[in-house]
Amino acid sequence: MCSKILQTAVIGLGRIGWQTHLPLLQKNTDKFRICAVVDPIAERGMEAEKTFGVEHHYCTLEEMLAEQTPDLAIVCSPTMFHADQTIQLLRHGVHVFCDKPVAENLERTHAMFEEAKKADRKLMVFQPRRTFPNSFAIKQIMESGKLGKIYQMKLFIHGYGRRNDWQAFRKHGGGMLRNYGAHYVDQMMYLIGEPLVPLMCHTDCIASLGDADDVCKIVLHAPEKGVLVDVDINQASGQRVFVWALYGKNGAAVLRKYDNHWTLCYFDPAELGPNQACEDLAAPDRKYPQEIKPIPFREEDFYPVNVPDFAQCFYDNLYDYILNNAAPLVSPADTIALMKTLEQCRIMAEGK
Ligand SMILES: NC(=O)c1ccc[n+]([C@@H]2O[C@H](COP(=O)([O-])OP(=O)(O)OC[C@H]3O[C@@H](n4cnc5c(N)ncnc54)[C@H](O)[C@@H]3O)[C@@H](O)[C@H]2O)c1
Repeated sequence: MCSKILQTAVIGLGRIGWQTHLPLLQKNTDKFRICAVVDPIAERGMEAEKTFGVEHHYCTLEEMLAEQTPDLAIVCSPTMFHADQTIQLLRHGVHVFCDKPVAENLERTHAMFEEAKKADRKLMVFQPRRTFPNSFAIKQIMESGKLGKIYQMKLFIHGYGRRNDWQAFRKHGGGMLRNYGAHYVDQMMYLIGEPLVPLMCHTDCIASLGDADDVCKIVLHAPEKGVLVDVDINQASGQRVFVWALYGKNGAAVLRKYDNHWTLCYFDPAELGPNQACEDLAAPDRKYPQEIKPIPFREEDFYPVNVPDFAQCFYDNLYDYILNNAAPLVSPADTIALMKTLEQCRIMAEGK
C-alpha cells in the first residue's frame, strides 16, 4: 500500500472549486497538499493564498506547467475548458480529477481518456450524486427486496431560476441536459448498474436569460434489468417539486424532500388472496375488477443507514485509485457510457 502526499493543483476557483474542492483538500492534508491554483482572475488566486495558504497562484495553466508539475490536478473550470486542460495536464504526466460534465461532447471525452491511456495517468470524474444519501437509500431499498422487481424509477427536480451565468449559454457548453443531466443520468446508471438507452429527450429554454435548455425531460431504458427511467429537470416550474419514486412489482418507495425520509408502501405476495384472470368478453356480474381480499399493503418509513460524507468518499477513493490502483468510484467506461447517452439525448432533443 503506497502512501505519499499528492501535490495537487486546483484549476478554476469558482463555486465548486472554492466551496467544495479546496476545503476538501484542506481537510485531507495527510493525503493532498495544495501546491498551486489557476484562475484567470488574479484576485481569486490571491484570495486562495490568504484563505487556504496556497503558495503559488497562476492566471493560466501554461504558466503553472512552465514552473511546476503537480502529481494531481482538480479541473473545475467552466466545462468548455475541461478537455483541453485535461489533455494538457495528462501530457505533462499529471493525474486529473475532472468535474462533471467531463467535456462538452463524446468526441472530446474519448480524446481525454485516450490521452490518459497514452500517458499512463489516471483520469476520474467527480459525480457526487453517486455517494449522496439518496443513492445509499435506493441501493438499500433495492437490496431489501421489499418492492419486488423494480420496473420504473422517476426523479423530478423542479424550481424556478432565470439562469444568467455561463451555464445559460450553448456556446459555453451550458444547459440543463449537460449540467444536471450529467448528475442524474449518471446516478440512474450507477444505481441500475448498466448503461441506459434513451427513448426520448425533450429540451426547452423557458425562464433562462441565455439560449441553453433549462427544461429537460429524459426517458431512458435499462434493457438488461428492464427498468424504465424518467428524469424531469425543470428550472422554469412555478412550484418547487422534488420527488424520487421507485416502482416495484410489490410496492413503491417515495422521497419527497432532501431529508432522507422515504415512505415505502408494499405487500408480501405470499399474503395475497386468491384471484384469477377471466378472458371472457363479459365482465362477470357486471363488476369492475376487484380483489376478494384487499391487497395487504403496509406503510413504512425508511431512512438510509451508514451514509458517509459524500465528497469525502470521492477524495478517499481518488487517492487510492491514483496510488494503490483501487477500483475507481467512476470508471472511464462509466463516463464514456454517460456521455454517449447524453449525446444521444441531445441529438433527440435538437435533431442534430
Ligand atoms: N460536481 C458538482 O456538484 C458541480 C457543481 C457545480 C459545478 N460543477 C462543474 O464545475 C465546473 C465549474 O463550474 P462552477 O459552477 O464552479 O463555475 P463558476 O462560474 O462558479 O467558476 C468558474 C471559475 O473558473 C475560472 N475560469 C474561467 N476560465 C478558466 C480557465 N481557462 N482556466 C481556469 N479557470 C478558469 C473562472 O474565473 C471562475 O473562477 C463546471 O464544469 C460545472 O459543471 C460541478
